[in-house]
Amino acid sequence: MPVSLFQPRDASASSPSLTAPVDVVIMAAGKGTRMKSRLPKVLQRLAHVPLVQHVLATAQQLQARSAVVITGHGAQQVEAALAGLGGALALKFVRQEPQLGTGHAVQQALPVLGDDGVVVVLSGDVPLTQADTLQALIALCAGQHLALLTIDLPDPTGYGRVVRAGEAVQAIVEHKDASAQQSAITEIYSGIMAVPAALLKRWLARLDNHNAQGEYYLTDIVKFAAQDGVTVLAQKTTDAVQVAGINSPVQLAELERSFQHRQATALMEAGVRLADPARLDVRGHLRCGMDVEIDVNCIFEGEVSLGDGVRIGANCVLANCTVAADAVIHPFTHIDGGAQGASVGEGALIGPFARLRPGAQLGAQVHIGNFVEVKNSTLADGAKANHLAYLGDATVGERVNFGAGSITANYDGANKHRTTIEADVHVGSNCVLVAPVTLGAGATVGGGSTITKDVPAGALSVARGKQTNITNWARPKKQAK
Ligand code: UD1
Ligand code: MG
Repeated sequence: MPVSLFQPRDASASSPSLTAPVDVVIMAAGKGTRMKSRLPKVLQRLAHVPLVQHVLATAQQLQARSAVVITGHGAQQVEAALAGLGGALALKFVRQEPQLGTGHAVQQALPVLGDDGVVVVLSGDVPLTQADTLQALIALCAGQHLALLTIDLPDPTGYGRVVRAGEAVQAIVEHKDASAQQSAITEIYSGIMAVPAALLKRWLARLDNHNAQGEYYLTDIVKFAAQDGVTVLAQKTTDAVQVAGINSPVQLAELERSFQHRQATALMEAGVRLADPARLDVRGHLRCGMDVEIDVNCIFEGEVSLGDGVRIGANCVLANCTVAADAVIHPFTHIDGGAQGASVGEGALIGPFARLRPGAQLGAQVHIGNFVEVKNSTLADGAKANHLAYLGDATVGERVNFGAGSITANYDGANKHRTTIEADVHVGSNCVLVAPVTLGAGATVGGGSTITKDVPAGALSVARGKQTNITNWARPKKQAK
């Protein structure tokens, strides 16, 4: 799955407003005790993608030179999850063991950071910061200032407070170190900054851990900047979602809802009719034509594309598939194209309760009804399998009618074999087509047949026990006790 899935592809990153190269540092060494999970916190998933992967995707949109991920707790797992996802970025990993604070974390990255760049510090557990917000922060830094992303919070408990003298930012004071007066400040540091690398290196060398938590605070560099006469600029955002960090399952679920709401809004703004924007989940990328209607409780995963006029009924799950114009997917249908993909042709009717698996390729006007499963099979235009059937590894011609309860027996216990059903074949109910086998064009198969040999075009094939009628049959009677 490409990492850039969740952000607009034409992000403002395409017009860089800086001269210095950008290096992104992603802090991801923390444990995340409050998640109460075996998984490192930054690998918890939002919209099916690990939190830290969202952050990496944002870094890519900045067209940064490199991204340095600082790992500690679950380092191997985190590094494995991100390996190969750097794209155009030089992706580097640095270990922080033990974890002695955010300042100590960034200190570990210094050896792999050039002196000529601007460093953007991000957290692996803050997944929804947008590239344009960071781009503005980088512009504010302008290769020479310390730029902080801040926000006013009605309840600033737990956060670092932005201490100002007049307009000028003097320091960030951590919650546990704050005086009563400082605690009343509602402007807090988001955890995100842009800083010239050379200055960052100079200031990090001066850190100590003489504070309430005995940690090396990255935020102490603000007071060093003030001391050195470097301008500290704060860019205030009003969008809490962009700076929201995840510490608990409750926060993760809340941010998932915010994220989904944003995606739903974007779809509706593009003309998609959602029965209820609160009951939609897009975990990947959903492209829609005009006049697409989506009923409640639908989930879209991976890459899904819906053509003009497509209607999706309630409670459908669609993953990695393409649905052509005017097709109707009735309720409770599951389509999972997997790596191979799946496609539904124009005007096709699918479901209710249908299952399309990887390699299902359905032509125009195909009908797939309830409790029908299709895997690795091609159905040409107008083919129908309306009830209780299995088509696996089959090539099905135009206008074929595949009867209720019929299946392709594609697996001999060791190997898979193909079934070919040519155009206009009529397969009766409850048939077993034992592959490899071919039914010639226009052939008819009688209900209840088990077909093990090819059927010539135009023939009727019946392969079942002959019916015997015994007239005046007396049923056994129940014996008296
Ligand atoms: C930090 C800021 C605080 C800010 C808040 C915003 C500091 C000292 N304080 O506080 O001003 O308001 O974020 O959310 O920076 N991490 C490491 N190694 C460590 C410690 C932390 O990699 O040794 C990582 C964590 O995994 C996390 C990020 O750094 O991704 C932030 O750490 P966290 O402990 O959440 O910092 P806060 O105390 O919340
Ligand atoms: Mg935190």
